Amino acid sequence: MNTTTQTAGVNTQTTGTESQANKDAYFSVSNLKAYYGDSYIVQDISFSIDEGQIVALLGRNGAGKSSTLRAIARASEPELRSGTIHLGGESLHDKQDFEAALAGVQLVPEDRRIIPGLTVEENLDLACIEGETGWDYERIYNLFPRLKERRKQEGITLSGGEQQMLAIGRALARNIKLLLLDEPYEGLAPVVRHDIERALLEVKNEGITTILVEQNAVAALKLADRALILDTGEIVFRGSAQEVLDDEQLRHDYLAI
Ligand SMILES: Nc1ncnc2c1ncn2[C@@H]1O[C@H](COP(=O)(O)OP(=O)(O)O)[C@@H](O)[C@H]1O
Ligand SMILES: [Mg+2]
Repeated sequence: MNTTTQTAGVNTQTTGTESQANKDAYFSVSNLKAYYGDSYIVQDISFSIDEGQIVALLGRNGAGKSSTLRAIARASEPELRSGTIHLGGESLHDKQDFEAALAGVQLVPEDRRIIPGLTVEENLDLACIEGETGWDYERIYNLFPRLKERRKQEGITLSGGEQQMLAIGRALARNIKLLLLDEPYEGLAPVVRHDIERALLEVKNEGITTILVEQNAVAALKLADRALILDTGEIVFRGSAQEVLDDEQLRHDYLAI
């Protein structure tokens, strides 16, 4: 286990059992550095996740959460200039976005990217074109019964919550190992959020590993096994979700809750 402790910032409350990046872990990133042009945004990030865990990735607006997810999914931007990423023994840092997707990484971006002109079901069909198929539609519809009711309806006419369900359903239609969720609760009423929370716990029970980025830190921590807090592109805290909930100073300094 790698126990070097060079994380910058205060409150790097690394507990004895937490590692910055354990390359033997199911998922790990090590010394990840990513840039938009000359702007150094993801600043030497390392962490690891056990299989089937939900990790909340938290931090203020602009802290670098979305950029970290994009770097992991191997989006063209931000550009990954150094560091390693491993998932289930396979390297991702040397891959492009579509190869990372084939390796089992699926990013559900904040804007959900529902394809206009296609029904709910056609959006799912499109997800299955490449790579191994994952959950069959019946299973996805069991997870989100509202999608079944609306399966012949154009995807972009759905409510925000239903579009989020479709975006998650579309990810599950492929054979994924790591689900990257960028602010899935944004703009959703609590009752709809609860439907999605229930679904995410079911996804966890199926052994899928999740990184959950959320502005609603309390809601994310309720679901998460562990938490990471980013500030200006660096990890300033790693620990259990409960530790964050119990640490008023930490919440005040980095999460404004
Ligand atoms: N496409 C981009 N080009 C240049 N800078 C960007 C781009 N996207 C994000 N940034 C900058 O990177 C930093 C981190 O942004 P982001 O990862 O979106 O933060 P978060 O998701 O935590 O709100 C911010 O300073 C933001 O302005
Ligand atoms: Mg963001």
